[in-house]
Amino acid sequence: MFQPTWLPRRRPLLHKATFVASTVFAWLLFVHIHYLFAKPSTYTHLDETQLQVQVQEDETHHSFQSIDPCPTSREVLSIKAYEAMSDECVEEWVAHHQWSSACTGTNLSEGLKVDGVWAWVNGTDPLQIAAREQYKPGTAMKMDAAHRYVEHNELLYSMRSALTSLGNENMQRMHILASAYRHSNASGKMMTGQVPTWLEKAKALTGESAVVLHHDADYFKPIESPGTNLSSEKTQEWREAVLPTFNSLAVEAQIQNIDHVSSDQLVYFNDDFFTLRKLAVSDFTTPLYGPVIKTLTRFTSMYLPAKKTIWRTFNPAGEEPGIKRAAWVLGMRFSMRPYYYITHHPRTLWLPLLREAAQTFPEAFTNTPLSRFRAQDDVPASIQAVFLGSWYVVERHREALLWSWVVAKWGGTSGELSTMTKDDMWEELAGGTASSKSLLHISVPVRAPILDTEVFKKANISLPTSTEYSFSSKDGYALSYVDSMWPWNRPRHGYPDLTSGLMGNTSSQLTQDPNFVAANACVINRLTCFGVSQENETANDFFKRIAFENPRCGDCIVTALIGASGVSGIDKFLPDHLAGADSASYSDTLTSPPHLPLTSNWTTTDFSMPDAIPKGSLPANMTLRTWCIRLIQRYSYVLGSVESDLYKVERAGDLEVKMSEIELKVQEDGWARGPLTFLCLNDDIKDTGKLRNRIDELLVSFFEKMWPDRMNFEKED
Ligand SMILES: *[C@@H]1O[C@H](CO)[C@@H](O)[C@H](O)[C@H]1NC(C)=O
Ligand SMILES: *[C@@H]1O[C@H](CO)[C@@H](O)[C@H](O)[C@H]1NC(C)=O
Ligand SMILES: *[C@@H]1O[C@H](CO)[C@@H](O)[C@H](O)[C@H]1NC(C)=O
Ligand SMILES: *[C@@H]1O[C@H](CO)[C@@H](O)[C@H](O)[C@H]1NC(C)=O
Ligand SMILES: *[C@@H]1O[C@H](CO)[C@@H](O)[C@H](O)[C@H]1NC(C)=O
Ligand SMILES: *[C@@H]1O[C@H](CO)[C@@H](O)[C@H](O)[C@H]1NC(C)=O
Ligand SMILES: *[C@@H]1O[C@H](CO)[C@@H](O)[C@H](O)[C@H]1NC(C)=O
Ligand SMILES: *[C@@H]1O[C@H](CO)[C@@H](O)[C@H](O)[C@H]1NC(C)=O
Ligand SMILES: *[C@@H]1O[C@H](CO)[C@@H](O)[C@H](O)[C@H]1NC(C)=O
Repeated sequence: MFQPTWLPRRRPLLHKATFVASTVFAWLLFVHIHYLFAKPSTYTHLDETQLQVQVQEDETHHSFQSIDPCPTSREVLSIKAYEAMSDECVEEWVAHHQWSSACTGTNLSEGLKVDGVWAWVNGTDPLQIAAREQYKPGTAMKMDAAHRYVEHNELLYSMRSALTSLGNENMQRMHILASAYRHSNASGKMMTGQVPTWLEKAKALTGESAVVLHHDADYFKPIESPGTNLSSEKTQEWREAVLPTFNSLAVEAQIQNIDHVSSDQLVYFNDDFFTLRKLAVSDFTTPLYGPVIKTLTRFTSMYLPAKKTIWRTFNPAGEEPGIKRAAWVLGMRFSMRPYYYITHHPRTLWLPLLREAAQTFPEAFTNTPLSRFRAQDDVPASIQAVFLGSWYVVERHREALLWSWVVAKWGGTSGELSTMTKDDMWEELAGGTASSKSLLHISVPVRAPILDTEVFKKANISLPTSTEYSFSSKDGYALSYVDSMWPWNRPRHGYPDLTSGLMGNTSSQLTQDPNFVAANACVINRLTCFGVSQENETANDFFKRIAFENPRCGDCIVTALIGASGVSGIDKFLPDHLAGADSASYSDTLTSPPHLPLTSNWTTTDFSMPDAIPKGSLPANMTLRTWCIRLIQRYSYVLGSVESDLYKVERAGDLEVKMSEIELKVQEDGWARGPLTFLCLNDDIKDTGKLRNRIDELLVSFFEKMWPDRMNFEKED
């Protein structure tokens, strides 16, 4: 079982300086104590496994010839559910937030199912133990301790729990990501992969059934940077350097390469994640709002970007270095800013968007698996791919909004913004009133509720059973509100309630109310954001300044235009219906599916309309406006929240109490903070001997009691 050693709930709430000082102190103390009490070696009992293990095909192993690898394709994948919507429907839904005649009858079925994905390793398998021993780096290195690999059949029950919660019709396929090892005696490409004891191996290997077993040797691939080619020798070299792997971050950085998926929407589980109640697909994803990303916006779960971090020295096996590095990688492409933790529970990842993140950051994704073990420091830095892939969507959405406004709407075919055009843009931000001002104070927009039950009904989509939709990209850029508003003004799990608590009031009623004073959201400074006013400039330069160089400009401009678009919709960002409609020059430069440059550094990227966009084909009759709408739609998302519990299994006594508490919370629908939905049982067992056996018993009986129903790909007893 893969485990993080560090989880954010454990961090105390402190001010920054105190925090840094006390953290450094705590770590020094920790390192000291760690050495005092560390057992001589976690691996002493493994000596006898130095023998060559000769495993071929048996009940729990599968031998196969590893295929000749080729790099991940750089072809951009379209999103099937969005393809199913007509141009008229996306105009109606994305631009105006209405689901009526143009959308009625749209077949959304492609967006209404998910594939479950589980990372798993059997750490008690002699083959795995021998391989681990063989590959462990020579230098003294704090490795994952052996207790991290203890088995209680978590995978089986984690999968059962997900299937019980979602049902076969919503989760049509489940994927197991398992490890494989080179044959110790074979010269060629023969590999032996692990197979869970309880799994019907023959079914899982067809690639066509409800369960698909993937071995790392099959799907681990590097990805080329634009303009470079990886020869097959280079690709093979990379594979030699990364496989076998003992690092969950490496596995997560390769999820975008799995095949045999039955839907674009993946839900990624660690094998110690469990779901406790009936869930709808909309708890994870909808074709209306995009993936539901669960974040923690507490101050203590905020990560500052860092190219390198001292955490890599102090707690190299923890999550911190990979997350901060991911934030830095995002920052080089979008803008440096802190990001928040993605909760340690089932996580929604849309395969086409995750693939696109890898295409955008080939180096980060290709380097991560070079750490065979979590804590290696003689290789390039790793990223936490789930964190990167989640915030990637949020950043692309912001970029799409700003690009549509600056480059498509105002830059137009000329790609030039004259001073007069810039005056008009300023006027638009000012709402047509205060154009002589050099500062614009932008109010918090008043918007319709996120989750529109009428639309769910019309589109025949079940409402989420357990998830609060806290923020939707239909209301702009989530982090600008988090940056500019006090936590107590953000009641929706860290995000603001943009209906102002006046649901049922339209904004015109609201703003006509003489007593209504909208709160200030942010300020746009003309000089900082619009540049030296007497100069013409290219739309590309203007876009890069507000979007990336002075990101607060872009954040606030998004907020202003969201407010100006009314209670719903994003009309103000979009070029008008005629723009580009009869201009053949767009047709062969815009791409389908719509996306902006897949480069990893904004400073060296050209975003101008004819040059920047990679060559591709656009349906000849698609307008520039529709292209922009589909670009923005591609990156739609919801930030949501679910009642969840992350529990460290340490001692039998505590566990017994906890198990009965959980059973109660699941039965009692009226538990104070809502029914408990996600559970993570983090294995950090401290007990030994009889008590340790007691823990094993407790877990197994809890699992059997909660999820007794067998899946149809389990072996007969
Ligand atoms: C909707 O599309 C799916 C595949 O995309 C297809 O299997 C299904 O039959 C369609 N449903 C209707 C009612 O057309
Ligand atoms: C490897 O070991 C297996 C099982 O012991 C044996 O059948 C096979 O011939 C060996 N292969 C080589 C290349 O030595
Ligand atoms: C893991 O490997 C051990 C040793 O081969 C085996 O007893 C156990 O059943 C395996 N567990 C699973 C889930 O496959
Ligand atoms: C990479 O390979 C493709 C096709 O094999 C070729 O068209 C392209 O020019 C090559 N690019 C470079 C940079 O070598
Ligand atoms: C700026 O653009 C306007 C309109 O395109 C043009 O008339 C003017 O000459 C330009 N000014 C400069 C300094 O290039
Ligand atoms: C609504 O969806 C359900 C499945 O979720 C399906 O059985 C039913 O036929 C659909 N109704 C309509 C009107 O499409
Ligand atoms: C709408 O706003 C007005 C004035 O703020 C208030 O009196 C009224 O109760 C609100 N209506 C609803 C349905 O909330
Ligand atoms: C991005 O480009 C800038 C300017 O060319 C350069 O200074 C910076 O090092 C680049 N960043 C990365 C990560 O390559
Ligand atoms: C574009 O052309 C296709 C096929 O000819 C047609 O189905 C579609 O309705 C057209 N779209 C618009 C916006 O004219």
